Amino acid sequence: MSYARIRGTGSYLPERVVTNSELESRIDTSDEWIVSRTGIEARHVAADDELTSDLALAAARNALDAAGLVPGDVDLIIVATTTPDMIFPSTACILQDKLGVGAAAAFDVQAVCTGFIYALTIAERMVATGSHRCALVVGAEVFSRLLDWNDRRTCVLFGDGAGAVVVTPDAEHGVLGTHLGADGSLGHILRVTGGISEGQVRGNPFLEMDGQAVFRLAVRALGESAQKLLAESGVGAEDLDWFIPHQANMRIINALADKVGIARERVVTTVARHGNTSAASVPLALDTAVRDARVSAGQTLLLQGVGGGMTWGSVLLRY
Ligand code: ACO
Repeated sequence: MSYARIRGTGSYLPERVVTNSELESRIDTSDEWIVSRTGIEARHVAADDELTSDLALAAARNALDAAGLVPGDVDLIIVATTTPDMIFPSTACILQDKLGVGAAAAFDVQAVCTGFIYALTIAERMVATGSHRCALVVGAEVFSRLLDWNDRRTCVLFGDGAGAVVVTPDAEHGVLGTHLGADGSLGHILRVTGGISEGQVRGNPFLEMDGQAVFRLAVRALGESAQKLLAESGVGAEDLDWFIPHQANMRIINALADKVGIARERVVTTVARHGNTSAASVPLALDTAVRDARVSAGQTLLLQGVGGGMTWGSVLLRY
């Protein structure tokens, strides 16, 4: 069995930027409150006619270009999303059609903000065992469509975007270990209860959140997940070149880095620029750090996600 390695990364943010000052003019909030509580300065919002699959397509093309591959090379597509274009077909199947990748297997993963970590874990196994040779793993969301834009407690936190990686076999570099977790009994602390039945939305179509409970769970679960995975892999926190956590909130990220023992200057953060983009956040941050040359071949990275479910997970890799 070979390693499965990330060979290229890509990302995409919609053109429209909503700054904190724009939100100040619409709801009872302030730039000072948002920045001091979350570190978020702006978020991107998809155009009315832009779908999750469109964001995914742009990120996927960038990742394939970076990998030096073409859509015809792809034989597996996994899209992590909480905001699919439609109930079915899956967004992965829609992306397959838009890319023109005829025969690739395609399916979605739904683990909310942890979706990309779950999807990368699945893709790693499928490539490392040899069943597939070129996986496109995408996190893409139009989370803005799940928000009540009059609810200041939630709407300031999220944004839209997409990130993608191409995973191929490699003899030396690749995923060193993974850890996934979930606790369904905590579903109520972060959820969208609405569903469609008999042609109507039943339940609340907007995001509901107990912010402080989510904060506590995120720091505890991700801290424990990192410590377990690092111990199992024989890698110390001081051996990590970069920590790339879910981009929800600077206070969560800083508390987590301190808990795991990772120096703040080794943490990649992009949340200020685009807020919490759910499943897109980790590949967006990874792509940013690859393109600005912080991340380079042979480095050891820890990627982490946490989100609704509640779900959480970690991927340790040699880039
Ligand atoms: N602007 C101004 N005031 C606000 C805003 C806002 N946008 N939002 C809430 N407030 C007010 C509240 O109404 C409250 O006022 P009150 O005391 O008069 O009732 C006050 O600020 C304090 O509210 P809290 O909810 O106690 O604020 P807290 O300090 O806990 O910060 C926050 C809220 C930022 C959401 C915090 O709990 C947090 O970071 N939680 C993590 C949530 C998160 O990151 N979720 C993302 C999704 S989950 C994930 O991806 C992991």
